[in-house]
Amino acid sequence: MPLTLVIPAPEHQPAYVAALERGWSPDTTAGGEATRLSQLEKISTDADGFLAGLDDPEGLAGDVRLPDGSMVKRLPGYYRWLWDGDLVGSINFRWAPGTEILPPHCLGHVGYAVVPWRRGEGHATAALGLLLPLAAKTGLRWIDLTTDPDNVASHRVIIANGGELVERFTKPAAYGGAEGLLWRIAF
Ligand SMILES: CC(C)(COP(=O)(O)OP(=O)(O)OC[C@H]1O[C@@H](n2cnc3c(N)ncnc32)[C@H](O)[C@@H]1OP(=O)(O)O)[C@@H](O)C(=O)NCCC(=O)NCCS
Repeated sequence: MPLTLVIPAPEHQPAYVAALERGWSPDTTAGGEATRLSQLEKISTDADGFLAGLDDPEGLAGDVRLPDGSMVKRLPGYYRWLWDGDLVGSINFRWAPGTEILPPHCLGHVGYAVVPWRRGEGHATAALGLLLPLAAKTGLRWIDLTTDPDNVASHRVIIANGGELVERFTKPAAYGGAEGLLWRIAF
């Protein structure tokens, strides 16, 4: 079955839980392990509510906790799961309506993670390619993405989808203040 982006639904959830239980986290920041544990907890107590919160194009799901514990207002956004009959990973898109400019605490419009046992098969490259036409529907003229300077696999995913390096920047203190790379994909 070819890779698709699915709206997270009950039929995908057992595979998602299995991936979390194997130690994978969809959150690629320093808060990844905390996200993994809190998602397992949320699914065990309110599986439907967890799914509903992943598809939130109006930003109604409550504030967002940053890796340093600080809370910020949620942007509109949604997650899609990478699916080929099993869970391959997760990709998310968030945006500020009417502008390409994101608040400083938001490190890019798109984040993605592939489960470790399915990496190197072209799935992240394909998933970003599938997301771009969905993102373009917002009317934005471009999207920004950020990576760590040494995340070569992620650089290649972005370049393969037409991305260009904009600049090296310093991440906000809430993310540890390390160096990052800012990339842009124009529509
Ligand atoms: C980054 C990540 C999403 C890539 O997923 P993937 O499905 O393995 O990526 P792809 O198979 O599409 O490979 C993309 C490119 O990276 C290359 N690549 C894959 N793993 C690599 C590695 N460890 N080192 C260097 N290059 C690598 C591939 O060869 C490919 O390059 P090519 O197009 O020139 O052949 C995955 O490694 C991951 O989930 N990492 C942890 C989370 C993360 O870093 N997310 C991105 C945050 S910005």
